[in-house]
Amino acid sequence: MGYVTLPVFEETGYVVLDPYDQSRDPQEWLDIEFVDWKSSGETRFAPLASAYGDLECNGFWHHNPPKTDKDGVWVEQNIAVAPRLKARAEEPGANIGRCRVIELQPTAYAETLYNLHIDDNNRLNPEGTGWIVRGFFNLTDNPDSFMVLREDRDDPSTETRIPLPAGAQVIVDTQRLWHAVWHPGSEPRYCLITSWESGPELGAYIASRNPVTRIAQEPLDPAFVQSATDEVAARRAARAAALGKPAVDVMSEA
Ligand SMILES: [Fe+2]
Repeated sequence: MGYVTLPVFEETGYVVLDPYDQSRDPQEWLDIEFVDWKSSGETRFAPLASAYGDLECNGFWHHNPPKTDKDGVWVEQNIAVAPRLKARAEEPGANIGRCRVIELQPTAYAETLYNLHIDDNNRLNPEGTGWIVRGFFNLTDNPDSFMVLREDRDDPSTETRIPLPAGAQVIVDTQRLWHAVWHPGSEPRYCLITSWESGPELGAYIASRNPVTRIAQEPLDPAFVQSATDEVAARRAARAAALGKPAVDVMSEA
């Protein structure tokens, strides 16, 4: 039967929307409560919606009873101090699963490649319903940082880098594209991440914000890319050896 998907994601798996005027909003991410949650890179997360409303960030499918990444329950203590962030997550009118703010410490390019992963958003998602995609609304101004996307984790020619100034709005099929953020800054980066169900509401929201499905790329220095690639291969091999598994089976968690 398959899932309800949006045609706008078909070609590249991502869409960049009109930027949001972040400067008019309070910096609510400084007031919410973060929990340690290891994702890709040096991170903490502040949940706005979790599986059952608790201040935690686990995948909904790990709970009892398990659920798919929909029908998130607002975390009262955080939404009480972040009404704008909640409103932005609700703006598309689509079903919301996990909704959280990520805090990411500065990350080098090689680290980013090592952190590339795909998400597991659609585990337990019943066929015939909407495919889960994830919105990334950049909160801090990081014009020299990039959302790095790859169709093939190990093929640099499939890479897209989307710059992340304040107000950048990107929606990604993160179960299709390998992704991680390259953040060479000196301060942490903050971003609102929301799981949304594909359907007419999300489709209309995207259509109303001048969606762009392919971003022109400034090529990176091939020697820089090769050096980072070599470093990742060495790190993967070392980790695999430590775990006693083949390197191909080892990847960072979503
Ligand atoms: Fe992810």
